[in-house]
Amino acid sequence: MPLKRPTVVVTRRLPQGVETRMAELFDVELNFDDHAMDAGQLAAAMARADVVVPTVSDHITAEVLGHAGPQLKLLANFGTGVDHIDLPAARAHNIVVTNTPGVLTDDTADMVMALILGVSRRIGEGEKLLRAGEWTGWSPTGMLGHRVSGKRLGIVGMGRIGQAVAARARAFGCQVHYHNRHRLPAAAERVVEATYWPTLAAMLARVDIVSINCPLTPETHHLIDDAALRRMQRHVYLINVARGEVVDEAALVACLARGGIAGAGLDVFEREPAVTAGLLALPNVALVPHLGSATFEGRLDMGEKVIANIRSWSDGHRPPDQVLEGWA
Ligand code: 8YV
Repeated sequence: MPLKRPTVVVTRRLPQGVETRMAELFDVELNFDDHAMDAGQLAAAMARADVVVPTVSDHITAEVLGHAGPQLKLLANFGTGVDHIDLPAARAHNIVVTNTPGVLTDDTADMVMALILGVSRRIGEGEKLLRAGEWTGWSPTGMLGHRVSGKRLGIVGMGRIGQAVAARARAFGCQVHYHNRHRLPAAAERVVEATYWPTLAAMLARVDIVSINCPLTPETHHLIDDAALRRMQRHVYLINVARGEVVDEAALVACLARGGIAGAGLDVFEREPAVTAGLLALPNVALVPHLGSATFEGRLDMGEKVIANIRSWSDGHRPPDQVLEGWA
């Protein structure tokens, strides 16, 4: 039976406009000091709420979901990836899960380009040098990087974000290669003149830049492991804006340290917010703290999607962004 004003627990601070609208529509509990909830606090939220709005920083495990009261019917995730939610456990408790696809595609694809340019043109390194007062002036051989135009970009995961990266990369003069579980329709391939590789290993050996754009699933966990890294050529830059766990971070540090690839641009990490010390020590790694979708516009759009999902569920309809079995 749909509820009129559901009790909604929001686990993190959301943009003011989103919180205000939620307070108008729902009996909402906001997290004013934006603390990350621990397992006990999440479990307590599950026990009292009709709807919980989690984010990527909340680990909604089977154990946490075990505390769900019979009233809890919806996890309206603020974000697209739902790898932090135990989906089978949610299903077992008859809890619907929704996400916010589409609205962070462009922002995340922009971040891929920023990291490609950042690492290949040594922007972070240059800025550090300048701020340290160590720049002695222009020189013909100073801080040379590599040209992006003309390079082969290998996209791992050609969903919405992968295709948005491909469009940007074409504009920068790159050749687009991709590996995906399913080949795109020919018309979609033609738009970005993309070459499909049925085998990831084969693609990795042939490209100059690798961009990880697949979701984290049991199948993609450590997809880029030591063996995958060893297939890449020494001049390769590896970019990851998807999930840290897709890359074996220890293997990546070892690979970078032995010069196995030229550098990396990372927005996500295996044990966020911890970052493997070895990465911090390497100059040829551009590091960003999970900012892929961090724009004012994107966060508002995400909030609107969360609200639309809660409202349609509360009105007795199937929410527009219900996460279905085999979502990734
Ligand atoms: C979001 C993300 O900011 O949507 C995703 O999957 O990785 C991020 O860009 C985050 O998930 C918010 O929960």
